[in-house]
Amino acid sequence: GIILSGGPSFVNLPNSPMISQAIFNLGVPVLGICYGMQLMGKVLGGKVGQRKTKEFGIVTAGLKASPLFEKITGKQSVLMSHGDQVLKLPPGFINLASSIGVTNAAMSKNKLYAVQFHPEVVHTPSGKQILKNFLLDICKVKRLRGNFNYLKSRIQLIKETIGREKAICGLSGGIDSATAAALVTKAIDKNLRCVYIDTGLMRQGETKQIKRTFGRSLVVVKAADKFTGKLKGVEDPEKKRKIIGKLFIQLFEAEAKKWQAKFLVQGTIYPDVIESAKHSDSAQTIKTHHNVGGLPKKMKLKLIEPLKDMYKDEVRQLAQKLGLSKALINRQPFPGPGLAVRIRGEVTRIRLERLRQADEILQQEVKTIKLPPDHWQTFCVYLPVKTTGVKGDGRSFEDMIAIRSVTAVDTMTADWTRLPQSLLAKVSARIVSEVPGINRVVFDITTKPPATMEWE
Ligand code: XMP
Repeated sequence: GIILSGGPSFVNLPNSPMISQAIFNLGVPVLGICYGMQLMGKVLGGKVGQRKTKEFGIVTAGLKASPLFEKITGKQSVLMSHGDQVLKLPPGFINLASSIGVTNAAMSKNKLYAVQFHPEVVHTPSGKQILKNFLLDICKVKRLRGNFNYLKSRIQLIKETIGREKAICGLSGGIDSATAAALVTKAIDKNLRCVYIDTGLMRQGETKQIKRTFGRSLVVVKAADKFTGKLKGVEDPEKKRKIIGKLFIQLFEAEAKKWQAKFLVQGTIYPDVIESAKHSDSAQTIKTHHNVGGLPKKMKLKLIEPLKDMYKDEVRQLAQKLGLSKALINRQPFPGPGLAVRIRGEVTRIRLERLRQADEILQQEVKTIKLPPDHWQTFCVYLPVKTTGVKGDGRSFEDMIAIRSVTAVDTMTADWTRLPQSLLAKVSARIVSEVPGINRVVFDITTKPPATMEWE
């Protein structure tokens, strides 16, 4: 079978990815997803274009009886993220689903199937069943039960790559780099040295906590002044990320030189690669993850990225296997560029300090409630947008803090957490009274897509 995936292009634009009609005559099952459906629609003679409204987010679709929707016919929540849609079905195709915004949310003809929504993301709960139906029932793929030892083979590969050389690992205190370090330690043991760069962009008390967790063997490089210095006057998020990525590498290279290490281990995971658009020539950069897109073209160190093909939930499972602590496994993900990408616009010491204070208040209060099992992150964002307020008896004209909280299973899609109103009220009241320079707090109620989790 063939799966035609989604993508950011529009089939009617010149130079958009095309496919030969012959593919659909091969007699093998094809599943088109989003752009893949539009491509199938256009190539086979249907009409593709935009309706008045584009659809981004979780919607309800009615799925009709079909081998693709076996066990899940009827109303289902699905994630839509598109501009175009199939307006008129190609000859011979039948409609298999619709939602309020999309008449043809799915279609089929013989072994050809297509869906406008995204079955591959967790915010389409029936998506796994759809893919299962396609693979097992339509393509007749056989399940093989092997005893392939994933962990062992990965460790062996790292051993062979690094040999007797030395490596350093950039530890950020998060699960990805800690898991990468644990894996590489199993392969080369004492020839790995872990380095933590104190960027000054971390949350309250975080550097202390990291030192406590990783102990004396951790090399700590103090570089707060360097980071704030290079970020002075920079407002563009992509520029910030590139500056941070470059500085990280320079500091790692200096450390590696001291220790004669030839390799740099990073905890890059697959979504970092996807969003930085480094997985395909036709992909668009969503944001340049500092550890992928921020790398200089010519690097002295050779990269080892053992988690580069994994999603976060898979990394968590691997971390468990490697015996990492529960606290670390369940730690909220924190972006490598730190608070720099949680301050919209220029990063200054004052803004960093205010954001740290606001975030600390939020974290303290969130600890008092029970979060949903798929909770991913809850954090504050600093918005240098001045609005009018009244503090005491006087007018205030001050900046804003946004609260962002998301649920997710992997980083590709997210919903906003329905935090209790009593919690929001308390956090807001504390922030405006305890954090100087802030007179307004807002709560972000946007899904991903169309928003991303972080604001930059
Ligand atoms: P977005 O904002 O892309 O975030 O929806 C998805 C997840 O990735 C984290 N994130 C980063 N992590 N370097 C990182 O190591 C980065 O440059 C970066 N940008 C976003 C973010 O915190 C969220 O968990």
